[in-house]
Amino acid sequence: MQPKFTTVRELYSRFSAKEDLSKLGNIYLSGWIRTNRDSGSIGFIALNDGTCFKNIQLVYNGDLENHDVVSHLLTGATIGVHGEIVMTPEMKQPFEMHVTSIEVLGECSSDYPLQKKRHSFEYLRDEAYLRPRTNTFTALYRLRSVLALGVHEFFQGKGFVYVHTPEITANDAEGAGQVFTIVTPDDQGKMSDTDFFGRRASLTVSGQLHVEAFAMAFRDVYTFGPTFRAEKSNTTRHASEFWMIEPEIAFADLDDDMALMEETIKFLIQYALDKCPDEMAFFDRMISPGLLDKLHRVLSTPFTKMEYTDGIKILQDAVKSGKKFENPNIEWGMDLQSEHERYLTEEVVKGPMFLINYPKEIKSFYMRENDDGKTVAACDCLVPGEGEIIGGSQREERYEILEKKMEKIGNKEGLEWYLNLRKWGGCIHSGFGIGFDRLLMYITGIANIRDTEPFPRTSSQLKY
Ligand code: 4AD
Ligand code: MG
Repeated sequence: MQPKFTTVRELYSRFSAKEDLSKLGNIYLSGWIRTNRDSGSIGFIALNDGTCFKNIQLVYNGDLENHDVVSHLLTGATIGVHGEIVMTPEMKQPFEMHVTSIEVLGECSSDYPLQKKRHSFEYLRDEAYLRPRTNTFTALYRLRSVLALGVHEFFQGKGFVYVHTPEITANDAEGAGQVFTIVTPDDQGKMSDTDFFGRRASLTVSGQLHVEAFAMAFRDVYTFGPTFRAEKSNTTRHASEFWMIEPEIAFADLDDDMALMEETIKFLIQYALDKCPDEMAFFDRMISPGLLDKLHRVLSTPFTKMEYTDGIKILQDAVKSGKKFENPNIEWGMDLQSEHERYLTEEVVKGPMFLINYPKEIKSFYMRENDDGKTVAACDCLVPGEGEIIGGSQREERYEILEKKMEKIGNKEGLEWYLNLRKWGGCIHSGFGIGFDRLLMYITGIANIRDTEPFPRTSSQLKY
């Protein structure tokens, strides 16, 4: 009988459906050896076939035709196996495969950088093209893929329209001067930053301005794609290229915005727990003990709201009572450092929080000015362990106020279309941006953005 090609994922799903896998007969699996130990008469291979987090145990014995070759196969080698499933309810794994033949599809030499022992995150970052084959990164990148779908399911389930905002743009959406400029050769072969488009172009720092235009047609929209920042911050949370989820909602103010932020984060946490239970259990066990408890607590607790002005007072009081910050000069009007954000969310609130109504001078030009004339209707979502993972705001919908601001910072030219949105059928609207890579850090407990991104780009780092 021809063997049936199957996958470990399928075996586990049939097992969950209470099927007796020993009745499957002769089947065929292919995958990569995680470990191989042989005692002469019997040998065991932990095989991972890429289709699920779990390995399958292969049992082979001494009479295998190519036993000598198989018993010497090293971690990392690729094999195809024929055999039958045997149920092992008394063992750690519920079933194993007793193999009848093993075919070597790709050998792995002994200089393979991933050996059986545990490697440090730093070491694995240096071998980024191989690390998806380790437990941690298998778990992480499958979760990343699953959560990307979760983002679409969440927003499309609520009727949001997905907009593919451009990656090449002529505007610096945040006005923070952190753009990567696009340079191409002109007719003489000289590098030019204006020749190609006739004006300066850059990689986008945010899809927000373009997605706002769509919100004025579809009401509720989102964009989700790569964004780029030429920011030389060498931290565990900053990357030069990262993915951002940016919803924009019409007829909505800052409170509606925060309600949507909270709903989004909670949906995605629940989605991770539901769709990747093995991976999440692994993170809880190996990466961040207590992670699952933390996430369940987040699910059942409303996010705290705090005024920026109150946050400043709390920080000043903390300094007075002996709290040591690297930057202890806390005053109203300052941009908070990560250490300050973390103090508020970790030690004061002890959970996710919204810090709202920031001084207008430190926030972007498009944020709606509050009646006090000093602050804007902005909101950052801060979480323990990281600080800011979301930045959002109600947008300035009043033409004259926005125009004055844009004239003041000098970005009106070229962005007249953005201003026109306020003239031709504008309305109050709000939106936010979640750093997807930072969200993944929060949900997995992984401490560095260089690990939640498959091939991270940071200043001075572009190995792969
Ligand atoms: O706060 P930011 O700069 O806000 C915006 O870009 C708005 N246009 C979003 C919007 O309202 N549509 O960035 C939003 C989030 C941050 O909270 C952070 O999670 C992430 O994007 N982020 C970064 N992630 C990784 N590396 C960087 N260099 C990041 N800069 C921002
Ligand atoms: Mg921000």
